Amino acid sequence: MLRSHTCGELRLENVGQEVTLTGWVQKSRDKGGMLWVDLRDRYGITQLMLEEGVSQPESLTLARTLGREFVIKATGTVIERVSKNDKIATGDIEIKVMALEILNPAKLPPFLIEDDTDGGDDLRMKYRYLDLRRSPVRKSLELRHRIGQQTRAYLDGQGFIEVETPVLIKSTPEGARDFVVPSRMNPGEFYALPQSPQTFKQLLMVSGFDKYFQIVKCFRDEDLRADRQPEFTQIDCEMSFVTQEDILNTFEGLVKHLFKAVKGIELTDFPRMTYAEAMRLYGSDKPDTRFGMQFVELNEVVKNKGFKVFDDAELVVGINASGSAHFTRKQLDELTDFVKRPQVGATGLVYARVQEDGSVKSSVDKFYSPEDLQQWAQAFNAQPGDLLLVLAGGADKTRKALNELRLEMGTRLGMRDKDTFSTLWVLDFPLLEWDEEAGRYHAMHHPFTSPKPEDMDLIDTNPGAVRANAYDMVINGVEVGGGSIRIHDRGVQSRMFDLLGFTPAEAQAQFGFLLDAFEYGAPPHGGIAFGFDRLCSLFGGADSIRDFIAFPKNNSGRDVMIDAPSPIAQAQLDELQIDTRLRG
Ligand code: AMO
Repeated sequence: MLRSHTCGELRLENVGQEVTLTGWVQKSRDKGGMLWVDLRDRYGITQLMLEEGVSQPESLTLARTLGREFVIKATGTVIERVSKNDKIATGDIEIKVMALEILNPAKLPPFLIEDDTDGGDDLRMKYRYLDLRRSPVRKSLELRHRIGQQTRAYLDGQGFIEVETPVLIKSTPEGARDFVVPSRMNPGEFYALPQSPQTFKQLLMVSGFDKYFQIVKCFRDEDLRADRQPEFTQIDCEMSFVTQEDILNTFEGLVKHLFKAVKGIELTDFPRMTYAEAMRLYGSDKPDTRFGMQFVELNEVVKNKGFKVFDDAELVVGINASGSAHFTRKQLDELTDFVKRPQVGATGLVYARVQEDGSVKSSVDKFYSPEDLQQWAQAFNAQPGDLLLVLAGGADKTRKALNELRLEMGTRLGMRDKDTFSTLWVLDFPLLEWDEEAGRYHAMHHPFTSPKPEDMDLIDTNPGAVRANAYDMVINGVEVGGGSIRIHDRGVQSRMFDLLGFTPAEAQAQFGFLLDAFEYGAPPHGGIAFGFDRLCSLFGGADSIRDFIAFPKNNSGRDVMIDAPSPIAQAQLDELQIDTRLRG
């Protein structure tokens, strides 16, 4: 290599050695007879020192021309620094440079290549290759690398085989929207990019692979958020001859291994909760369990006292923000505004403070006597100093809104520490979800998930009440993974497609390959897929998955660096026989 050492490795014990370093100029300071350069590479920063009468005169002249991000090579001797810098690992030494060479000059970067940059999101994405030089972003990708390596090590150790599945597949009407790719050789026909390798991993089970995994790109054309990208990566897994319990244990094992190996954290066994319980206690199927503040239902306590909002409501439900009675009127108004935002959707907020003497003062004292309010306090098991926050309305909508308020309070009260990890399995998801707009059922997870055998008799009478052998892993309120025990019987799978509104002919056209495969000896099987990017951002303590992806897309699904998507040449369109002229 052009260098003898990296910019992160020299220490006091190297003093006296002659070394050659290469890297990028972080900054330089010219003090007349002496000149210092901070040299940076992936491994760290080392200080170079050039001195008149010591360094080669032409090197000193060159050094005076250095700008930020020039790529240079310097040879010299390691010496102990007079004024040490305890902020960097190499801070005890510097290099007394004899010879300096410019390997490539650089234009002034459009933003500072420092931990705290002045670059806005758009600029950072346009020049992502410069952004990736910054150590927080680089560290996020190093973390991703370690999690990936440890995932492979663990799964390989458990006998899993990594198999690649195709990227050009067939479009299916279930789930999110597909990205499609036109086929030149089959004009008018399209491939779809996989939303997940779901059917392929099931076919691998039919093939007898028994334990499969793949760290794999998936593509979904859906609206983007901080934790969603149009192309993202799954740790996709499937096993044969297993019960749900086997899957939960194997993959709880994986996540425990990752926490231990990558973060040095020993997780205890993951608590489990049913979907129904999660909705009742937290109004969410991915509750943040780093803090309590569980929902308390108040219908029994608050109705028939003349307060119309509560009397008319399907559900009155609240949380106890323990110790928050000191919230000012202004803060409570802010919370009211918060719950009234369209994204949250509540019509208003009722609050009650438990005073030091145990009496309760509420925003609806007009309707409730001190004795009534004592009953509220009892329902919440409230103590002096507590603040009760109550919402009312349609049950689903109100739970959803209270979930948002609970998370907001958790944040405001500092109970969502990024270095605390609270794990949870959510079990027994409903099999189906009613779609108002389409007037039909959707598979809540996907159409290959098996109903619970004990709920099978409800399938004709009350399909919405059928529970599935489906589970999600939730950490700190993030759905990091989800899976299910699959259907492996052609008859049951056909019944499922029927419930989802497919005619037998449509089911055969879309999924005939899978239905057919089930007739050639399909073993019982099940699996799970983790959102790899989400897992990485959780490990890294970030809310967004973007900086854990080397080249992410922005919120409009664009890569602003390479400027994609983009129009293609008419000749290409002609070859594909695609007519993009507006049809009138
Ligand atoms: P599911 O659709 O739940 O299941 O996806 C599994 C996990 O992938 C992550 N994820 C995403 N991450 C980033 N951006 C996205 N757009 C995105 N969408 C999903 C989530 C989620 O938990 N085939 C099934 C798995 C199975 O049944 O085995 C599947 O894809 O963390």
